[in-house]
Amino acid sequence: MSTNFPQGFLWGGAIAANQAEGAYLEDGKGLTIVDLLPTGEKRWDVMTGHIDSFIPSAEEYYPSHESIDFYRRYKEDIALFAEMGFKALRLSISWARIFPNGDDESPNEAGLQFYDNLFDELLKHGIEPVVTLAHFDVPVHLVETYGSWSNRKLVHFFEKYVKTVFTRYKDKVKYWMTFNEINMLLHLPFIGAGLVFKEGDNQKQIQYQAAHHQLVASALAVKACHELIPNAKIGCMLAAGTTYPYTCNPDDVYEAMEKDRESFFFIDVQSRGEYPAYTKRFFKDNDLTIKMEKEDAALLKNHTVDYIGFSYYSSRTTSTDPEIVKQLTSGNVFGSIENPYVEKSAWGWTIDPKGFRITANQLYDRYQKPLFVVENGLGAVDELNSDREIHDDGRIDYLKKHLIEMSEAIEDGVDIIGYTSWGPIDIVSASTGEMKKRYGYIYVDKDNEGNGSLTRTKKKSFDWYKKVIETNGASLEN
Ligand code: BG6
Repeated sequence: MSTNFPQGFLWGGAIAANQAEGAYLEDGKGLTIVDLLPTGEKRWDVMTGHIDSFIPSAEEYYPSHESIDFYRRYKEDIALFAEMGFKALRLSISWARIFPNGDDESPNEAGLQFYDNLFDELLKHGIEPVVTLAHFDVPVHLVETYGSWSNRKLVHFFEKYVKTVFTRYKDKVKYWMTFNEINMLLHLPFIGAGLVFKEGDNQKQIQYQAAHHQLVASALAVKACHELIPNAKIGCMLAAGTTYPYTCNPDDVYEAMEKDRESFFFIDVQSRGEYPAYTKRFFKDNDLTIKMEKEDAALLKNHTVDYIGFSYYSSRTTSTDPEIVKQLTSGNVFGSIENPYVEKSAWGWTIDPKGFRITANQLYDRYQKPLFVVENGLGAVDELNSDREIHDDGRIDYLKKHLIEMSEAIEDGVDIIGYTSWGPIDIVSASTGEMKKRYGYIYVDKDNEGNGSLTRTKKKSFDWYKKVIETNGASLEN
């Protein structure tokens, strides 16, 4: 099967500060929400907004505290990315490295310097930094003191933070993104927006109010980016994956449309610049009243994103049949039901390459703006054999099938500007906190309990991806 990718296509990988850097209190960094996520059973409760302490407990293990120590090892890791020929690396800035409490008067110079060094190192290797401003990373002080994104004040603190980093890195970074997987706020509200709930709270009300604040903050970030770095592009970021109706029963079809709209809502605002018509009915049916300021409508309208960044791991399936609904796939935060036509990963995530093509077409039809695939990949167990090699053929197969479908989408006319696969080096899993769930072309010696030398080892997929990039996607063979 021949593939076709445009010249200048941005091949690379994507990581996030909280899952890679470690050094969680180093050089003045403040505590962020992810630093409160333990491994094990409690993790889910915290991620969904049920937390009783804002201080890490001595009894728990918090994988973000060390992660893979990218903070100290970034030069070694970037050299490996460069060896694979990366054109781009998507990474995030940790807000709390720049403003440790979030509401500080002035920024933390050591934090700013770290990202200067990091961007310089990337640029030295000809790798374009693609920077997410917020990847599950609210300073804990803002959660404790203000109730995080439920409070309008966060808009102002965020604006100050983004203006600081735009000004500082304006000559180094040309691709920006506002909130990682902004729709995650509805599924994992603590991770997505630092939201914590008390008994009796109207959670939906709090979530949509927080969403409004993030949407306004996103528009202000777009505005500031365009003013401060006119030659930069700034996008949004959606956890994408089209929803299939389980049957052609119109009830199922409508349900699938509604599920997709739950996510599209965010991008409709960020890209089209206004609340979509369907939200009126949704807010009415759910008895939600969102407080908006006079200036918000114009801000949203006038400062829309330049491109649509999205992650794609899986498609989703939904049904209105109470019996079918019981068949939830495990491990999927979007609560999809089993789709008998596709396979699943070891963590129960649907593997659906064709769904990738469908999703890309759907997004392009809807927004008609360039798309940037900023996450895709297979979380799998990797074992070193007796020669200390890792033959991750399953990963190669997953990626190959997805790249073929991405090429098909491009042939369909979808404008895709780049592809940064998730976790090009093994990092901590966001949903489970495990190291065992690996996505990388580079193995990191560390286990779920935090043991290991952190040594980096190339997997078989390393050379495979190198060839993919070298041939601009023409060679996908294993
Ligand atoms: C996305 C996130 O949800 O999926 C990443 O943006 C995350 O932060 C990735 O790591 C894969 O999910 P997981 O749970 O397998 O790490």
